[in-house]
Amino acid sequence: MKTKAAVVYEPGKRLEIEELDLEGPREGEVLVRYTHAGLCHSDYHVMSGDLEARLPMVLGHEGAGIVEDVGPGVTRVAPGDHVVMSFIPNCGVCRYCATGRQSICDWGATILDGQLPGGRFAMSGPRGEYGGFCIVGSFSQYGVVHQNTAVKVDDDLPLDKAVLVGCGVPTGWGSAVYTAKVKAGDTVAIYGVGGIGINAVQGARYAGAKNVIAIDPLENKREKAMELGATHAFATADEASEVINELTRGQMADAAIITVDLVTPEVVSAGFYATGKDGVIVVTGLNKLLEDTIVLPGSMLTLFRKSVKGSLFGDCNPTYDIPKLLGLYQAGDLKLDELITKTYRLEDVNEGYDDLIAGKNVRGVIVHEH
Ligand SMILES: NC(=O)c1ccc[n+]([C@@H]2O[C@H](COP(=O)([O-])OP(=O)(O)OC[C@H]3O[C@@H](n4cnc5c(N)ncnc54)[C@H](O)[C@@H]3O)[C@@H](O)[C@H]2O)c1
Ligand SMILES: [Zn+2]
Ligand SMILES: [Zn+2]
Repeated sequence: MKTKAAVVYEPGKRLEIEELDLEGPREGEVLVRYTHAGLCHSDYHVMSGDLEARLPMVLGHEGAGIVEDVGPGVTRVAPGDHVVMSFIPNCGVCRYCATGRQSICDWGATILDGQLPGGRFAMSGPRGEYGGFCIVGSFSQYGVVHQNTAVKVDDDLPLDKAVLVGCGVPTGWGSAVYTAKVKAGDTVAIYGVGGIGINAVQGARYAGAKNVIAIDPLENKREKAMELGATHAFATADEASEVINELTRGQMADAAIITVDLVTPEVVSAGFYATGKDGVIVVTGLNKLLEDTIVLPGSMLTLFRKSVKGSLFGDCNPTYDIPKLLGLYQAGDLKLDELITKTYRLEDVNEGYDDLIAGKNVRGVIVHEH
């Protein structure tokens, strides 16, 4: 079949809308009609070349849709099911899946190549075989994914909101709840209020933090943070640090969560000095793969018993956490509707990324037409 998709051919260039051929699902694979796709900054890292990926690549790793067809041996989902994509597949049996660490499943090894597990590409076009970012590729009307990527969700959930639970929501919420292990009464500083950071705000608040301090130079982001659970919001790390000092009588924050778009030694250091003894600095944002983004005085880390932790997918277990977070949404304990600033047609995906880079969007969402 044919599918229209947004493709990155060359780093630094705009996405091109291309009609591609899509082969049907084989053993263990699922054909999904994507209804929605979220615009995450990670796709932009591939567009800009900060994350070096195999090209050409169909971008989009925050995706939701409806199962159209399944290949032989598929047991997790059936045609007609509503599904949210997990941007790391979960095989269920590797060392990490088997011990409750699905976000670092061994099957995640090829997310920057985008071929299906087993090595094939389902999409092809004028420039050969096309991968799907994170083995998803939701900036396409249709996609073939492995069943270990598709998580079934309740039919009555609105897919236009549930799509956010494919990346931004679990990554941010989990960075606070699972990686930072925020506890009742804690003080948490969150650097960068985009699609990830706003959910770190929601997670920290839900976990019972007393002080949730959001830092972002943009006023619209600070306002959104205050609306969704931050107790304080500042434009700069210095202003935040002063207030954290006052609020904690010098003990400083229990956790700093770094969710800026391009992580730098400066912002990680700001988080490091904003935390006190036994503080944790969670690094969720990215930069170039081999860029030194963490430059810290190790003796201070030792003497204050601090830790610096990376967080992938918020340390979530997608098959458990995607339905769980959607349950929190249904109960009113997690906001999704309020996260979406603007929706776009697939053809306007570049405008969506212009808006993201201009700082207009907390999250933009593509609404697919078929
Ligand atoms: N670890 C993971 O599993 C994972 C998953 C998804 C995204 N990411 C990464 O997380 C990062 C954030 O993604 P996003 O979609 O939320 O991006 P975004 O562009 O929506 O938001 C980034 C925000 O950071 C703010 N910012 C920039 N520099 C700042 C600074 N020095 N201090 C405070 N705020 C600052 C910007 O104003 C913006 O509001 C990206 O690097 C993305 O690739 C990681
Ligand atoms: Zn993402
Ligand atoms: Zn696994």
